[in-house]
Amino acid sequence: MTSCRLCGAPVEVFLDFGPMPLANGFLAGEDFETEGFFDLSVAFCMHCAAVQLTNPVPREKMFHSRYPFFTGSSTRMAEHFRAFAASVADDLRSEDPFVVEIGSNDGTLLRFFANSSVRHLGIDPSANVAAAASENGVRTAIAYFDPPFAAEVVRTQGQADVILAANCFCHIPDLHRLAEAVNILLKPGGRLIFEDPYLGDILRLNSYDQIYDEHVFYFSLTSVSRWLDACGFEVIDVQKQPVHGGSMRYTCARRGACRVSGAVADLRAREVCEGLHLPETYAQFRLRVERSREELSDVLVKLRQRGLRVAGYGATSKSTTVLNYCGIGPSLLEFISDTTPLKQGTFSPGMHIPILPPASFHSAFPDCALLFAWNHADEILAKEGAFRASGGKWIRYVPRVSLV
Ligand code: TMP
Repeated sequence: MTSCRLCGAPVEVFLDFGPMPLANGFLAGEDFETEGFFDLSVAFCMHCAAVQLTNPVPREKMFHSRYPFFTGSSTRMAEHFRAFAASVADDLRSEDPFVVEIGSNDGTLLRFFANSSVRHLGIDPSANVAAAASENGVRTAIAYFDPPFAAEVVRTQGQADVILAANCFCHIPDLHRLAEAVNILLKPGGRLIFEDPYLGDILRLNSYDQIYDEHVFYFSLTSVSRWLDACGFEVIDVQKQPVHGGSMRYTCARRGACRVSGAVADLRAREVCEGLHLPETYAQFRLRVERSREELSDVLVKLRQRGLRVAGYGATSKSTTVLNYCGIGPSLLEFISDTTPLKQGTFSPGMHIPILPPASFHSAFPDCALLFAWNHADEILAKEGAFRASGGKWIRYVPRVSLV
């Protein structure tokens, strides 16, 4: 692709990771031979400032009945979504409100509404996470959200007061079709509230591991505003969120329907100061990413040369980018510990490092642990005090490579 998915203008590739496996393609040993790879490269649009993948993977390869990510696997995330739901509930004004979440995963966010008997509907294409939501009492449809599906919901259940999405819109390649579906489903005075990893934080933290197949877009207020503007909507508020390594929550409404908060102008001005609209910002980011790769490989090779045991902590989707881009395989990393039952007993995509349950980590602490789930660092460091007490060291690579 040489043109922007949002505005059609030419785009400039600033980072090409080369062939990559699916970020969540955890696999069995017998599937190594047939594992698929695709080209992961990311580009910047000079016209609308949208940062995007050039070569999205077909969605059915990523979202299916064995999707291995469950939102509720982190207690901090569950708490974050409880607070998010409570703030939305506070603003519901109609007599019989209807709340819809797009990409509702295991129902962690909607559970709050289900427990308060608020009419709700979760929509998710991955059957296994949707089943987990239904078991939690969250009404869930297994589907992709598109205009025909939105029309069917309106016909059977009416329009929504609020449409929510968390870590979902950045996965959707056709944002104009998405806005068309939102326009059908949302009441005239309704709100669209979504949050996704924030481009400003990715640049600031050098968190290049946020770049993987599922994340088609890396949003800023600038690009979100241009997208919504073309669809008759506008951002009326923004709130920074401390989750997923730095996210932004965008509250949106039909253009002119609501007062726009001062936070929107403030963030817009900050994005100009930080050069989010300038190609040189991305050229500099690329140099920092390349340096980070050299430093991390160097640290791991030296630890192995000293005969130390190193394991990974958290088989995150992000870890797939780091492992494959930096060429880190089983000779450098013995295993990766992860709490997700579906990932345990499999191998990491591309580099084929064994994924083991936390019991393997606790029964014989390695000398060092590479923290892939760095976005959950507070929660993990708090509960893994015994690892530090045993002399274990954490290896971090965000914002820079360090051994603590
Ligand atoms: P995420 O970065 O996409 O939220 O994924 C976090 C991954 O890390 C997920 O596979 C669960 C795993 N994890 C652990 O193994 N231990 C933990 O304490 C936490 C919080 C997450």
